[in-house]
Amino acid sequence: MAFSHSRIERNIGLMMLLIVLLVSVGGSVEIIPLFFQKSTTEPVAGLKPYSALALTGRDIYVREGCYNCHSQMIRPFRAETERYGHYSVAGEFVYDRPFQWGSKRTGPDLARVGGRYTDEWHRIHLTNPRDVVPESNMPGYPWLAANPADAAGVAAKMRALRTLGHPYTDAEIAAAPEAVKDRTEMDALIAYLQVLGTSLKTAR
Ligand code: HEC
Repeated sequence: MAFSHSRIERNIGLMMLLIVLLVSVGGSVEIIPLFFQKSTTEPVAGLKPYSALALTGRDIYVREGCYNCHSQMIRPFRAETERYGHYSVAGEFVYDRPFQWGSKRTGPDLARVGGRYTDEWHRIHLTNPRDVVPESNMPGYPWLAANPADAAGVAAKMRALRTLGHPYTDAEIAAAPEAVKDRTEMDALIAYLQVLGTSLKTAR
């Protein structure tokens, strides 16, 4: 028999080749359709790309490693939806590059934290979390209030994202440096937190 299993098992080169073939076919069948499915590629109704200030804040979120303690994905389980609101859907993350889903929850999920607290609450909390949540073990980020937000870089970032399909208009890009100028990194990060999860109508 030309292709008996024992022949494959005794020939490691052939075995490796067949494994690679199997994994690539299996992977492609699972992954490729996702690029063409509307439910994973189309933004949910009402989703807007991040404003210049929120986009700047998003980079600070990534830089400070907030994702090490916070996920941004509500799973479709009752325990999660009772606590955080409507479960996350793929279309909410179309303008998230890279997405911040994460899997580590030292702190609560932040996928729908937008609008839950006032800007002032966030300001106090980010400066020293224990001032509002005494038992918190989240670190403070007081220096964000002293750092100016990056107004010089934001237009270039928006132009780069536009090439990937984020629908920024020329006017929005032209106005971006002005919107970020004279704001602190704290302002930008709060602007970002306040839009999280607000696009989905059914969100709390
Ligand atoms: C070491 C882990 C840790 C890191 C890093 C961390 N957090 Fe937290 N965060 C927590 C914990 C624990 C809580 C819950 C207690 C509290 O509210 O302070 C929390 C709560 C929060 C809340 C309130 C959420 C809610 O629904 O009540 C926000 C907003 C938040 N964090 C934002 C951030 C941001 C922004 C960063 C990055 C600049 C960050 N966190 C970094 C652990 C962390």
